Amino acid sequence: LLPAEIIRRKRDGQALDDGQIQAFVDGLVAAPGTAGHWGDAQVGALAMATVLRGMAPAETVALTRAMTRSGRVLDWSDAALARAVGDRGPVLDKHSTGGIGDKVSLVLAPLVAACGGCVPMISGRGLGHTGGTLDKLEALPGYAVDAAPARWQAALREAGCAIIGAGADLAPADRRLYAIRDVTATVESLPLITASILSKKLAAGLQGLVMDVKTGNGAFMARAEDARALARTLVQVAAGAGLRCEARVSDMSQPLGWTAGNALEVAECLDLLCGRAAEPRLRALTLALSARLLCIGGLAADEADAQARLARALDSGAAAERFARMVRSLGGPADVLRDPQLAAAPVVRDVPAPHDGVLAAIDTRAVGLVVVALGGGRARAGQAIDGRVGLSAWRPLGAGLARGEPLCRVHAADAAAAQAAVAALQAACTLAPVGTPVVLPPDGDW
Ligand code: URA
Repeated sequence: LLPAEIIRRKRDGQALDDGQIQAFVDGLVAAPGTAGHWGDAQVGALAMATVLRGMAPAETVALTRAMTRSGRVLDWSDAALARAVGDRGPVLDKHSTGGIGDKVSLVLAPLVAACGGCVPMISGRGLGHTGGTLDKLEALPGYAVDAAPARWQAALREAGCAIIGAGADLAPADRRLYAIRDVTATVESLPLITASILSKKLAAGLQGLVMDVKTGNGAFMARAEDARALARTLVQVAAGAGLRCEARVSDMSQPLGWTAGNALEVAECLDLLCGRAAEPRLRALTLALSARLLCIGGLAADEADAQARLARALDSGAAAERFARMVRSLGGPADVLRDPQLAAAPVVRDVPAPHDGVLAAIDTRAVGLVVVALGGGRARAGQAIDGRVGLSAWRPLGAGLARGEPLCRVHAADAAAAQAAVAALQAACTLAPVGTPVVLPPDGDW
């Protein structure tokens, strides 16, 4: 069938069969100019038709399977891989559906590795208004997110974890589809998110996965019931493919942690890993997701045992050491804990509260878009980003502020960008009269 006919079927609300879905995925990875290749416009059109029309469970499974098989699927019982990686624990990973300031992966991967897990973490770039783990790591000069297999396998042997991109060999179909969805407003789709995430995870041959499904106004699934539906679908499709998976719905109605923006987030993670400072929600979520992985992987007897092991790995510096080894193996700074070589933005401005009040609501999506506008994310596929820019010292929901006190701090490439960001952030924050009770959203149902 011609691509246009497949797009037309989905546009008109008909289900695609396995062959049609396979033709789409083949079209994503076929070289331009060769038979079967789909152009960006065709990919974008089918993505939009899918956002609007959805997919039945069988289509979602077919899409996930085809995208998984679009590249290499790691087999950890393979002798060459076993030799390259050496003695290892259970192969575990965590993935988030995307948020603002969501830097959990950077701490969780070395933390779980320090507790005996093997964490080959196939991560993504920023998507829409959300940040991406790979973009954050690229703030570290030299860090090779696209490391060749021999290199990331060496990192796994050295550190027990390797955070890398799907690259040319793992789930290459997602790499292209992801980049096109990012700039065509076609991220918010249960089947597309499911196939995107699980194809990467299934290609990595995992034994256990924890999904952090975000909800709230900064998430792709803003409504709690949509987030729960996505969580259920992810767990079901993963289980159907033989992958043990748990999902947690967590709140994204405010940025996670104190910072948003690539280099700033890496610095916040280094503070957490090195025991210097930790924003409580970020620390709690990181430990909760890590604890589930230790339990799934048989590395802890129960939740209490897992928490005790994780606290030891953090407090002893073992997790920080794993992070340092991973960064070094993948070409980043040789001593990232002491000298991370993170570039700083030239213009730094506080965002003053326009009047007294309690921070009662945050338009978190708008905050993410401010980071993109500062240059920390992409407006066009493949665009270079500025790792230095973003926000820091973010105040949490419920904080009381006097007029002029900072809501957060902007890090910008120039004064004009900083000024625009200050105005947009003031508009994104609702300050209610002092004394107004702020009901914080519930966090953490499984
Ligand atoms: N994260 C992914 O990897 N893919 C999506 O589609 C959304 C979040």
